Parts: sequence; structure tokens; C-alpha cells
Amino acid sequence: MVRAYEIILKKRNGLALTGAEIDYLIKGYAAGLVPDYQMAAFAMAVYFQGMSREETLALTMAMVQSGETVSLADIPGIKVDKHSTGGVGDTTTLVLVPLVAAAGVPVAKMSGRGLGHTGGTLDKLESIPGFRTDLSREELADQVRRIGAAVAGQTANLVPADKALYALRDVTATVDSLPLIASSIMSKKLAAGADAIVLDVKCGDGAFMKNLDDALALARAMVEIGRGAGRETVAILSAMEQPLGRAVGNALEVEEAIKTLRGEGPADLEELCLVLGGQMLCLAGKVPDPARGSELLKGLLGGAALNKFKELIAAQHGDARVADDPSLLPQAPVRLELPSPAAGFVQRIRAESIGRSAMLLGAGRETKEDAIDPAAGIVLLKKAGDAVKAGEPLAVLHTALDPASPRVEQARRMALEAYEIDAAPPAASSLILGAVGA
Ligand code: URA
Ligand code: CA
Repeated sequence: MVRAYEIILKKRNGLALTGAEIDYLIKGYAAGLVPDYQMAAFAMAVYFQGMSREETLALTMAMVQSGETVSLADIPGIKVDKHSTGGVGDTTTLVLVPLVAAAGVPVAKMSGRGLGHTGGTLDKLESIPGFRTDLSREELADQVRRIGAAVAGQTANLVPADKALYALRDVTATVDSLPLIASSIMSKKLAAGADAIVLDVKCGDGAFMKNLDDALALARAMVEIGRGAGRETVAILSAMEQPLGRAVGNALEVEEAIKTLRGEGPADLEELCLVLGGQMLCLAGKVPDPARGSELLKGLLGGAALNKFKELIAAQHGDARVADDPSLLPQAPVRLELPSPAAGFVQRIRAESIGRSAMLLGAGRETKEDAIDPAAGIVLLKKAGDAVKAGEPLAVLHTALDPASPRVEQARRMALEAYEIDAAPPAASSLILGAVGA
């Protein structure tokens, strides 16, 4: 592969690639003509040399064209998608789909499954007895036309180049490269067919971007890609100094979403949902500015939003009674309290450790083939800023595993290590750190 060699060499030496060169490499990779070792070397060259705005857009479009693309044109209205850059206990999609639909904006959501320490919306919804996510394209469009909302699994052949490249990056220490992350996320959003996109870019210990400057740079890169591809795109930057809300785990997060749709959810989860939803309404042309969108949505909590969730569940063959009685959701037989080792104030809760702990308890997958326990997970009783006495429970672990097993012991240790406790209260901090393109 002389041509691939030259493209790698050019990038390694810090030169800008043409669109044709990027296209050649990505299409060749997707077709199996460029081998993994050359693609791995290319990813490492990009990691060190970066990519210009034009190169990043060309990379994204080449990836989009590596597979099928979805058209939502047969669904009336402006379709707005939402994406979060990898959260732990990020229950926002479960809340936003019915909430935004209740405001009259159609939501055709294609979601994924969880892997590692992050959860997936499909797994969460499937914890509702009977809930089906294997909708065909026609069923999805039909349901959105009928009730304004649907959630389905991604088409199998959506951006195959990203699937292969992401797996390669994962094992070659090239995941945390800004142009590679931006193009990976945006290629999937563009291929999924929405007219406009709202991004939630997480910033902090549990996120890809650990500080505000890096998170801002990622947000700007993704907004530029979206607009370069002709889709209105807005990014909200939000803090990831702790998991969002209190629940981490599939059925536990459905229950938390129901509470939030009732207007009785955790303050941080509600705040982020209203901010993201306000942007979605604004991009859909429903309101003149995002603040008015948030206000409108707040008024729907309790009545219309919860009813829309029931409609969504029923339409996808789930037991909608869970919305009135969350005890009908799968329940873990074992609940273990996690006593605080010290008195003081919770400073932060490392999201990744909580995610890994929940995974060990059964809530997540280590490999794609693993089965998950819908009832397993963690409920955080104490969050950042809360005072705690020594021995007082910080969290409750939910599992079906033997509480004396080494696996549960490891999960317990990990959850405990996630909590940072200090004598003085932490400085006040905000959840919403900024916006790009709003
Ligand atoms: N999520 C993705 O889909 N791709 C990345 O590269 C990082 C996060
Ligand atoms: Ca949560």
C-alpha cells in the first residue's frame, strides 16, 4: 500500500492532508484494503500532529460515507438529535425524549448499548418489562408520526469505518485525540439523519476532556463539523465532577427519569435536561431563544411529559404502569449500604470509578457479549457538597451477586474510593460551564 504509506508519512511530518487523501485512506480501510497496522500508525500520527478544521470535516464525511445513512425526511418537522460525550448515570436521554416530544417537537432517537463504565439508553429502556427497541426504520418513522417520539437501536451498518477505527484506537492508545473523537461522534450523528444536533460535552475527571479548555476545543470542533455538513449544531459544556443525578444502573435510571418527569428528580439532572431541551426546542424553531424553551419544558414536568413517557412505553410494547408504580421495574435482591469512613463533606465523586463499580455489580458489560442485570447499580445518597457523618451511608449498591464474593467486594472498594471526603465544604461549582454555537 504505497499510497497509504505516503499519507501516513505526510501526516507524521506535520503536513496537512487533502480531502482526497483522507477519503482514500478511510474508504480503503472500510473496504479492508488498508490494513489495521497502517490505520493504527495513521491514528498515532493524528494523535501527535492533530488535524485542521478542513481535515477533520473531510475525515468525518469520509466516515459517514463508509456505510448506510438514515433519512428522516419522511417525518414532518425539524428533527433534533442530542448526544452526550460519555457520561456515567447520565439519565438525560430518558428524560429528554418524552419531554421534548411533549412540547411538540418530534424525536426520532437512535441509541446504543452500554460498554465498560458507561451506560446505554437501549439497555436502560429494555429494563422496562416488554419494552422493544428493535424497531425497523418504518416502525420508527411511523411511531414518531403517530406520537412524536421513538427510541430504536442504531442501524447495524451505520459508520462501519468508525466501528473499526474506534476498536483500533481503543487498543493503540489513540482514543483521546480531539480530531478523532470529534469525527467519530459527529460521523454517527450526521449519518443518523437529524436536521439539527445538540451536544452535551462533559468536562472533568470522568470525561474524555479533563479541563475546560480541552472541552471547549472539542465542542468547537464538533460544532464546526456539524455546521460544515449543513446541520445546525450547538454544544453545552457540563461538569462531570460526579455522576449525574443519584441513580447509576438501568432500571434505577428509568425510575430516576420517571421522578424527573414528575418534577421530583435530582436538581442537577433536571437542570441539565432543561438546558439541553431548551436548546433542542430553539433549534426546532419552537421558541425564539433557549431560555424560553427551558421555561416551556419546566411547565410540562409532572403532567404532559410523564404522559408522553407512558405513550412511548406503550407504543414500544412496554408495561406503561411502571410510570405510576416504579416498583414494577426489576428489583435487586441484595442492597448493600456503603458507610462513610470519615466525617466531613463530599468534595466530588469520581464518575468513572462509580461506573466501573456498577458494571461489576452487573449493570454493565465488560465485553460486548456480556449479559447485564437490569436491576443492578448504585444509588448515591450523598453528592458533592453534602455533609456526612462517619458510618453514615454514602450510597447503596444493588446487585444479585453474592455479597461475600470477591467481585462485590471489589465493587464496594471501588465505589468507596470514588468518594473524596474532606473536613471543609467544597467550593461552590456550577453544572453548566458554557455553550458553543448557541
Ligand atoms: N465516543 C465516540 O463515539 N467516539 C469517540 O471517539 C469518543 C467517544
Ligand atoms: Ca443518573
